Amino acid sequence: MTTSSASLLTIFGATGDLAQRMLLPSLYGLESDGLLSPSLKLLGTARSGLDDAAFRDFVAQSIAKFVPAELQRETTLQALLARVRYQPASLDDADSMRILAERIRSLRDGDVLYHMSTAPKFYEKACAALAEHGLAGPGTRVMLEKPIGHDLQGALEINDGVTRSFDEDRVYRVDHYLGKEGVQNLLALRFGNVLFEPLWNARHIQQVQITAAETVGVEGRGDYYDDSGAMRDMVQNHLLQLLCLTAMEPPSQFEPTAVRNEKIKVLRSLRPIGRNEVASETVAGQYVSGAIGGQAVPGYLEELGRGSRTETYVAMRAHIDNWRWSGVPFYLRTGKRMPRRCTEIYLQFRAVPHSIFARGGAAAEPNALIIRLQPEERIELQLMHKTPGLDRSGLRLSQVSLDLDLDEEFKHERRRLAYERLYLDALEGNGTLFVRRDETEAAWQWVDAIRDGWDRAGVMPKSYAAGTWGPNAAIAMTERHGHSWRE
Ligand code: BG6
Repeated sequence: MTTSSASLLTIFGATGDLAQRMLLPSLYGLESDGLLSPSLKLLGTARSGLDDAAFRDFVAQSIAKFVPAELQRETTLQALLARVRYQPASLDDADSMRILAERIRSLRDGDVLYHMSTAPKFYEKACAALAEHGLAGPGTRVMLEKPIGHDLQGALEINDGVTRSFDEDRVYRVDHYLGKEGVQNLLALRFGNVLFEPLWNARHIQQVQITAAETVGVEGRGDYYDDSGAMRDMVQNHLLQLLCLTAMEPPSQFEPTAVRNEKIKVLRSLRPIGRNEVASETVAGQYVSGAIGGQAVPGYLEELGRGSRTETYVAMRAHIDNWRWSGVPFYLRTGKRMPRRCTEIYLQFRAVPHSIFARGGAAAEPNALIIRLQPEERIELQLMHKTPGLDRSGLRLSQVSLDLDLDEEFKHERRRLAYERLYLDALEGNGTLFVRRDETEAAWQWVDAIRDGWDRAGVMPKSYAAGTWGPNAAIAMTERHGHSWRE
């Protein structure tokens, strides 16, 4: 089947928070650079009883609020609004779905991309309704937001439900981390350079740390978050995707099947962590009140307004049981209300096998590579350097950094929102940066075993003060193995 660029993008849940903050500003960004096909139309749908004009107002307000002022242009806004239509619909109301289907048919002039930006429990029903009206066949594709389920069983149900109407190769599961520039740059760094690959294995790497730290709390999403926790909200998807891209073998091409085949091998090589391992290999935490950047912030339970055992922090020591990574710990951690926002991958190399400077007392620190993904993009290589001087009592070494500030290096390039890239790819039918069914399910299987282990072993989240790097137990977990978290 040939895929051509979609002529219609239909967003379900078009009046929601994600649409307002991310989806509409991303479409605006693409419009401003002339990247949307001239014939593309945008159809919003949700339960709210708006008409085209009222939804255009909503789009204009979202752009005014969430697009930086220096990027706002009246001509771009008008060009975007000229594409926009709205059709109210409710899955419980068959008539409204029939009218929506007619609207889609009348606007369609080629391929259609549907974007489910609703609660996942509606995915199956929405897809079935589209199929029932003959709108799910070849030339259509569907983008699904996370979470795909609450556990493996839920993911299987959603995936089975959706693929009853759309073949798997027309299902685009979003992990917005894959749309981030810095995450794609990880692939460019690994596979666009000859320097790193020979060292990218257990012989040369001592430990890897993947951190996704946020300063925000649960931001009015308490009900969703409390049912989810850091493990489901961040580890199952974003952290495991970063782990896959860091650890996978080189794919033969930058193309959906090749990339996803390599990622799934990593997920399937993850050593299970269950009841007997959770106490030593994982730490769950929950923040209590504290301060971030000098501002007092309330604890999780106060924000939530009720008691809860949900974890807002997870740290773990994972292993990938294959030749490349045998014996190398991958420390993963993520948490809300950390001292600063920071997503990064830290690879510490092994020490030199023999130091020729040891007699003078100079210690060679191991080299390290830090790939900072946000808030700023930078790549830092820590090297040993001679400390200047005449060294009468032995040569001294200092650690210095080769530091590449990518924001500065590419300061004339606009930093894109993740959804700009994801929309363009999905509109054009390129699934490389989307998650395949087997990846989601393998990730759930690994995460479910840990959660089940917590339940059986009676693991409760340990407290940490907002504005700190998590419970002390997380420090103890790395130090037991002679490692320290990078802070
Ligand atoms: C989302 C989570 O998927 O990712 C949120 O549901 C989290 O809880 C967010 O805050 C983090 O994304 P980013 O792009 O700000 O790192």
